[in-house]
This record gives sequence, structure tokens and C-alpha cells, in this order.
Amino acid sequence: VPRVLSGIQPTAGSFHLGNYLGAVRQWVALQESHDAFYMVVDLHAITVPQDPAELRANTRIAAAQLLAAGLDPERCTLFVQSHVPEHAQLAWVMNCLTGFGEAGRMTQFKDKSAKQGTDRTSVGLFTYPILQVADILLYQAHQVPVGEDQRQHVELTRDLAERFNGRYGETFTIPAPYILKETAKIYDLQDPSIKMSKSASSPKGLINLLDEPKSSAKKIKSAVTDTDTVIRFDAENKPGVSNLLTIYSTLTGASIAELEQKYEGKMYGALKTDLADVMVEFVTPFRDRTQAYLDDPETLDAVLAKGAEKARAVAAETLATTYDRLGFLPAK
Ligand code: TYM
Repeated sequence: VPRVLSGIQPTAGSFHLGNYLGAVRQWVALQESHDAFYMVVDLHAITVPQDPAELRANTRIAAAQLLAAGLDPERCTLFVQSHVPEHAQLAWVMNCLTGFGEAGRMTQFKDKSAKQGTDRTSVGLFTYPILQVADILLYQAHQVPVGEDQRQHVELTRDLAERFNGRYGETFTIPAPYILKETAKIYDLQDPSIKMSKSASSPKGLINLLDEPKSSAKKIKSAVTDTDTVIRFDAENKPGVSNLLTIYSTLTGASIAELEQKYEGKMYGALKTDLADVMVEFVTPFRDRTQAYLDDPETLDAVLAKGAEKARAVAAETLATTYDRLGFLPAK
């Protein structure tokens, strides 16, 4: 059975619609056909300062949302990154294999550090993609379900895996990104030229799944479209409408062509009103399920403990092989 691995940061509390449509939805589908490993990446979260109590709470909230979205601990391995110490251990090895310039070319780092200045940027943020490389290689993942913004990190993973294999002998599976074209990039509702993101989007441009459903409906209704009147998918000339059609299509299973037909001759307002209803129908039970998992932290923690145990078994084996290939003297 092919293996998949992916991760999500716990920093925002609520997942946003881009996280869900771009990644988490695929995670749920892939647990049926793949040996799936999914984690909440708290080690990645501390690359920027975190309040400890908030980080702890948000880690549980992230796990609860993953279960609410449909991850089934019987069908996948769900865990918290820091529960598996091998991530930090393999990350060190990968750090030593990465060129300084190579790491400096990662665009996410360049964007973030440019915004906050290098003195306020941690070395951890610089090596963040290399930790992600370790995450993926530890599990010998074949595929990595993510949104478009993570493609470069998966490419780096392939490069480093090939480099290690070439230097020390076949050790790591070369992973491929698993990025669905339709939902690779969900756009900001107010500015459809940028991706929806917790850092760059304005509150009105961003749908947080755990927000009040009414507020999310309002954001859909006030989404930016264009001065044309035709409801048609055209990402280049009609990015706002196209984004709404993508969201509508993915949440309901109706094809874009079906939706174009349904709204032929209708105004943007009709599309938005219906999509607002679709959104409410989606987020309302999602929030309830998330809350139910959070109301029972013992069970939630037990799920994560079991996941960590399963993950460690795989991770420890890969790390042991890696250390051996590197020439580290065994401890015994
Ligand atoms: P993170 O937490 O920023 O985002 C989680 C997932 O959501 C996707 N995503 C989007 N997809 C479509 N449209 C959007 N607007 C949008 N915004 C976010 C992201 O692509 C991602 O798949 N570095 C990763 C976490 C990570 C990881 C890993 C992923 C750590 N280790 C190993 C895969 C494998 C991150 O910060 O994702």
C-alpha cells in the first residue's frame, strides 16, 4: 500500500477554508486508499514566538478539527510532531546535507523574513523547510497531499533524498507532491489575486471554519467579484467568481459545468446567497463535531498517544538506518 504523509500547523486555532479544501479534504479521502500519516506540526509552530498555553490549546483544537473533518484513527495515523523525537533528529542530519544558499532560495522564508526583517527572524524559520523534509522522509512517504504553496518544500525533499541516497546508498523513498489542480490554491475573498492565508488575508477575505457560521455566510455574500455579470469559470479574467465556483463545486460535489448551467442568466447575488447557505451547512456540523472532541480531552489525548506510538515505530526504523548509513557508532 502506498504511503502518504502530511502536516498542518496549529498556530491559528481554527483552520481556514484554504487549509481544508487545499489539503485536509484530500487527507480524508486518501486514508481509504493509502497508509496515511497525518500530524499537527507543533515543532514548526515555534519558528515564530508562541504563547505556551495557547500552543497547547491550539494543538488539541487542530487535532479535534482533523477528526471532525473525517480522519479516522482506525484508518490513519494521527499524531503530534513533538511526540516523535525522530523528527528533530533527522532534521539535524538533513540540515547538514542542505546548502546554505539552497535553503535561502525557499520562497516562503524569503517572503516572511523580508516582511519582519532578519533580526526578528529565527534560524528555525530559515531551516523550517528542512524539518519538513525530515517529516516526509522519516515515513518513506510516496505522496504528500498539500496545497500549491508547499510544492517547493516537497521539491527540496526530493532533492535531499536523492542526494542522501546517492552519497550513502538507497535509504529514502523519493516522494511526489499530491496537489489537486482545482483546489491547489484557494483565494482571498476580498483580493482574489492572493491566496487565502491567516497572515496575509484581511478578516473579511478569510473564512475560519470555527467562526460563527453567520459571519462566514456574510463574508461569502460580500466576496469581491467583477463588473461583468456572467457566472463562468475563468481564473484569469474572473478570479473572484472562479474562486467562488471552486469552493461551491468542492463543497457540494457539483461540477463547475453544472454550476455554470444552473446559474446561466442569473446574477452574482444568487450564486453568493446559495454558496452562503452551502457554507453554513458545512461549517455548522463541523464546529459541533470539533467541540464534541474538545469536550472529551482524555479521549482526544489517547488518540494522539496511540498515533504517536504507531508513528514512532516507523520513524525509529528510518532513523536507525540513516544513522547506520552515516557511520554513527552504535550505542550498544
Ligand atoms: P500550513 O499549516 O500552512 O497549511 C496546511 C495545508 O493547507 C494548505 N493551504 C492551502 N491550500 C490551498 N489554498 C490555500 N489558500 C491554502 N492555504 C494553505 C497548505 O498548502 C498545506 O498543505 N509547512 C506546512 C506544514 C508541514 C507539512 C509537513 C506538510 C510541516 N511538515 C510535511 C506536508 C508534509 C505548512 O505550514 O502548512
